[in-house]
Amino acid sequence: MALTPTPAFPTLSALQVMHSAPVIPVIVLSDVAHAVPLARALVAGGIRMLEITLRTPQALACMAAIALDVPEAVVGAGTVRSAADARSARDAGARFAVSPGFTPALGQGCRDAGLPLLPGVATGSEILLAQQEGYTELKFFPALQAGGTAMLKAWSGPFFDVRFCPTGGVSAANAAEFLALPNVVCVGGSWLTPADAVATGDWARITLLAQQASQFKRQSF
Ligand code: 3PG
Repeated sequence: MALTPTPAFPTLSALQVMHSAPVIPVIVLSDVAHAVPLARALVAGGIRMLEITLRTPQALACMAAIALDVPEAVVGAGTVRSAADARSARDAGARFAVSPGFTPALGQGCRDAGLPLLPGVATGSEILLAQQEGYTELKFFPALQAGGTAMLKAWSGPFFDVRFCPTGGVSAANAAEFLALPNVVCVGGSWLTPADAVATGDWARITLLAQQASQFKRQSF
């Protein structure tokens, strides 16, 4: 499928992406036919910011399909690891980028592509590096494995001016604990799009999961 360049949209900030809903769905798609119905199911459940991970050969075509056919959705790229990834995602219609780690070159690549970046961090030194480059909204990844809510509480002292989107090991069962922290604006997770529901086209189940996720309360609001 030919990729169509992004239509002109106002530039978002990472904070706007994080404010949109309590949960950013982390989506893995390997069939372009699933992209539009999946995006519509999430939008119907109140989730508009959709992170499509660059982990499959079909990811860019999936982004392009959603950007063209689901105007209520805002498609973003996850697993962005290089400037080239950022350019490809932007050309496919992505309007924000999420990365599993951070380097200054990646930050520059996303700025050059015009994409707001939610950079991944897991240590104090990585937070300092991201702050040096001007980032104050960060993805904490992998959140559960790297210390979970206890780590976020510890960071709230020295990094009082940073807001986080914990991702990795976050689920319907523990999302509320993360969202109860004042330095958490939203969480990310794959639980809204279970692989079996996507494979069987169970869009109603995905809408229900999105509706439930939309209801989480945030301390930071
Ligand atoms: C990922 O990179 O896969 C995301 O962090 C999602 O993690 P999860 O599947 O634990 O929600």
